[in-house]
Amino acid sequence: MKILVVYFSRSGHTGQVARELAARCGAELEAIREARGRDGPRGYWRCAWQALIRAAPPIAKALKDPAGYDLVIIGTPIWNFGLAPPVRSYVRQYAGRFRQVAFFCTEGGSGDQRAFAELGRLCGKAPVATFAVTEKELPEPAHREPLRRFVARLATG
Ligand SMILES: Cc1cc2nc3c(=O)[nH]c(=O)nc-3n(C[C@H](O)[C@H](O)[C@H](O)COP(=O)(O)O)c2cc1C
Repeated sequence: MKILVVYFSRSGHTGQVARELAARCGAELEAIREARGRDGPRGYWRCAWQALIRAAPPIAKALKDPAGYDLVIIGTPIWNFGLAPPVRSYVRQYAGRFRQVAFFCTEGGSGDQRAFAELGRLCGKAPVATFAVTEKELPEPAHREPLRRFVARLATG
């Protein structure tokens, strides 16, 4: 099965999980890129504001065509109890090119179900599997077993 892991990451957590996943599944990676950075307090508040108004900011053209993959795994940080807006932009642009989808997120502690529900609506498909991990669990081996189960579900989905 050919798999693409697509993700956005501001501070590195979602990127870490994306790379772990890609290594476990033998998948390719696509980072969602923007022209404008989100560093510092101003960048933070722009994230919070865009999440609040459910914006879909401009993103760079994807390097990989998701139509060329059996499964696209989409990863987002949770912002304001939902999807990170650059991920919304990506999914709006490319949803018609997904065969099967799975979702994952990293978060402080809440918002994963709302984000997964919006991703499902935007994709027009139910995910074969979902996986949420808190930033606290990330440095510990605690997330490894749930991650392994997520990868196992992808194979049977
Ligand atoms: C603007 C902003 C809003 C956030 N809102 C939430 C939230 O509503 N719920 C939550 O659990 N975590 C929230 N977080 C924490 C992030 O989801 C968490 O740190 C995540 O792992 C960041 O992923 P990244 O390092 O890939 O950017 C927020 C972070 C930012 C920057």
